[in-house]
Amino acid sequence: MCGIVGVLGEHEAAPLLVEALKRLEYRGYDSAGIATVNDGHLDRRRAVGKLVNLSDLLVHNPLAGKSGIGHTRWATHGAPTTINAHPHKAGPVAVVHNGIIENYRELRAELAEAGMSFVTDTDTETIALLTQYHLDQGLNHVEAAQKTLGRLEGAFALVFLFDGQDDLMIAARKGSPLAIGHGEGEVFVGSDAIALAPLTDQITYLEEGDYAILTRHTTEIRDEAGALVNRPMKVIEMANSRVDKGGYKHFMAKEIAEQPTVLAGALRHFLTAEGEINIPAEDIDFSKVQRLTMVACGTAFYACLTAKYWFEQLAQLPVDVDIASEFRYREPPIPAGTTALFVSQSGETADTLAALRYCQEKADKIVSVVNVPESSIARESDLALPILAGVEVGVASTKAFTCQLNVLLLLALKAAQVRGTLSDEDIARILRGLRALPGVFNSALDRDSKISAAAQKLAEARDVLFLGRGTMYPLALEGALKLKEISYIHAEAYASGELKHGPIALIDKHVPVVVMAPRDALFDKTVSNMQEVMARGGRVLLVTDQAGAEAAGDDAWDTIVLPQVDEELTPLLYALPAQLIAYHAAIAKGTDVDQPRNLAKSVTVE
Ligand code: AGP
Repeated sequence: MCGIVGVLGEHEAAPLLVEALKRLEYRGYDSAGIATVNDGHLDRRRAVGKLVNLSDLLVHNPLAGKSGIGHTRWATHGAPTTINAHPHKAGPVAVVHNGIIENYRELRAELAEAGMSFVTDTDTETIALLTQYHLDQGLNHVEAAQKTLGRLEGAFALVFLFDGQDDLMIAARKGSPLAIGHGEGEVFVGSDAIALAPLTDQITYLEEGDYAILTRHTTEIRDEAGALVNRPMKVIEMANSRVDKGGYKHFMAKEIAEQPTVLAGALRHFLTAEGEINIPAEDIDFSKVQRLTMVACGTAFYACLTAKYWFEQLAQLPVDVDIASEFRYREPPIPAGTTALFVSQSGETADTLAALRYCQEKADKIVSVVNVPESSIARESDLALPILAGVEVGVASTKAFTCQLNVLLLLALKAAQVRGTLSDEDIARILRGLRALPGVFNSALDRDSKISAAAQKLAEARDVLFLGRGTMYPLALEGALKLKEISYIHAEAYASGELKHGPIALIDKHVPVVVMAPRDALFDKTVSNMQEVMARGGRVLLVTDQAGAEAAGDDAWDTIVLPQVDEELTPLLYALPAQLIAYHAAIAKGTDVDQPRNLAKSVTVE
């Protein structure tokens, strides 16, 4: 996902822009650039690769000026090259863009027809050229930008800067978030509050379709129809936008280690002093919910898959779970009595947002479980439940996953309570276990060196299988995703019972099999799957508890023993070894743990 920053300031813009872009690195990118207006002259510097390359360029070829825009690019149209890096410039116009312009080919043809020429193969250059075209037609800067915005189809967050205009920025959002930061005689623009944290804590989020005409002393926001609108200014908790590794080697390591703390904090939010679940019926009345449709992507989808078991088994509530990119185009019927639930760490994933919009006017209620309360998905929900994981910078989602599971389990328990499908004693037992879980996480984290040793062995493999039954099946899926997305080792996950239906053909001594199996009701069946694997020379890494290790015997290639927890809580706890196996395997492989190749932290484009 691209990162956008802009400043009309009192100080040199270049260092502020680079610092703000550094805080957006977590979003993933492959090139970066800035543009400033200096003595009325618009100029830019761009570089491929990490921000350090742009900083080096600026040392040798500085860019002065107190007004500027900056961008980190995650390539969509056009390879990651300097010429395709933002800001894109056409005559007196520079623009930075996050999103995809779906009709850019049609616009390019029109502009070519009008005699304009292109130097890149990006959709963003089309925006700059179209604005230049409108300026050439005699429109002023605001009119030219406004008219350009009216022609764009697709998703965008944009900031325009103009030659000769040291005190003007025009910012616009449609489908990709954009925030305005307010200073003393200064104004800033950023993709999110994290980018703006060093500059200000006074933030205004643009709404869908808004555009803002900014000077150092005025902020004029208009909606898609051009009408003046007021958007609330919020003071952002600075602690929530802290983005540093806190002494850890990687953000991912820090965020894995933070899980006990953030889970405990979330439980304090969702449980009353008497230990009751603090999700009032006014928010969601499960006596009226006949079925749930849950939609998400990636790790968030695996959280939904896990929650399906909980809602069905604890609350006897029928649940459909869908991958957002499939759901939105399949356009499934939404029966009466359906509550649609969307899970998203960023709250900006394009497919999940589109799926949510498909459900509006169809589902009885739109509920979201998000980590960013002011995100698009949160704001377009009837009820947005915060997971309270704190800023998650590592591209591989870790603490957000367990915090999503935490909220989803509480929702399932609330549903069970309201529907009378679980005894008060059982609900109290599970809540007790949940409250004790942060402590259990800490003792499980003590097994890090054992998990690291097992991961080193996995790191030599070309292919790895993950197996699990029941709620351990989505955990196996999550473990496979973690491993492949940060270590680049090919990994696949299967429900253990599926092994004999084909995947067992893959088994030999070169394909390690990670079996996620606490000693639960399904354990014995999983052990027989393990034996089928070992009988064919397969090497099994068993992730279990003490009772499981004793029952499984010593044939496993390696065994990771976790503390025993109630069956309903194992998905949260078993996420930890899945995360640490991937983390240590990636370290062994020398990959970029926090910003794995080709990935972005939030996929705000389709
Ligand atoms: C998880 O490790 C991945 N980074 C990715 O699958 C992520 O979970 C997915 O893109 C969904 O993101 P969201 O939770 O922000 O919607």
